[in-house]
Amino acid sequence: MSRVFLVGAGPGDPELLTLKAARLLASAEVVLHDSLVDPRIIALANPSARIIDVGKRCGRHSATQSEICDLLVAEALAGHIVVRLKGGDPMIFGRATEEMDALRANNIDFEIIPGITAASAAAAGTKISLTQRNIARSLHIITGHGADGGLPNHDFCALTKTGGTLAIYMGGETLPGLAAHFIESGMEPSMPALLIENASLANERHLPATIATLPGLHATHAATGPVLILIGEALRESATIPHLETVTA
Ligand SMILES: C[S@@+](CC[C@H](N)C(=O)[O-])C[C@H]1O[C@@H](n2cnc3c(N)ncnc32)[C@H](O)[C@@H]1O
Repeated sequence: MSRVFLVGAGPGDPELLTLKAARLLASAEVVLHDSLVDPRIIALANPSARIIDVGKRCGRHSATQSEICDLLVAEALAGHIVVRLKGGDPMIFGRATEEMDALRANNIDFEIIPGITAASAAAAGTKISLTQRNIARSLHIITGHGADGGLPNHDFCALTKTGGTLAIYMGGETLPGLAAHFIESGMEPSMPALLIENASLANERHLPATIATLPGLHATHAATGPVLILIGEALRESATIPHLETVTA
């Protein structure tokens, strides 16, 4: 039986944690967690568990990925029940591959426990379905952050042509460049776009805009929490929903 678990902590609201994640936390001997994981979730860990913050946020690393892998492997080889807690879903921009590779290389069995990803929480918070018949037939989860910290090397023309909804993770800092690339690639400047900060938390904020106006709005309402950017026709109704127009924080 596995004693190592890569666990999705969901987008923030502790009530969005799976029952399985809560059960594993309660039986963990060691918890390694990212900084985006809400303290109320970490508080569900077994009181005698060792809690290690390996968090990294906005490119600021408190432990390198290879240090995290080494720690995970060392704790597992010591025979501990290890919960590696990651924000959202571990398999979506969660650096799970590196950790799974390290565990496999050491013949350590593990399980993955999925979590609710930020895009699902953003859809719930805004009450906007990301896929809608005849409007948005696909959903594209993409990063806004290239490997070198700049813009990612996406095929912006292809993404623009899909006509689906784009959910951009880690795109807060590169938003001006992303918007410019989409518009240069043929996206209408009036294409609806919506920025969601702190999805699922009490201080969730929504900035409805267009792809042309969102960078300016974002610069004015400086975000301090994680932000997700949604772009596409499915977001058109966001402009007419009154509660989205106010910043709620
Ligand atoms: C390293 S990625 C991890 C994604 C995570 N594994 C998931 O499935 O949601 C971090 C990015 O996820 C997005 N994110 C995570 N939690 C969020 C939240 N509560 N509200 C808005 N965006 C969030 C932001 O774009 C943030 O920069």
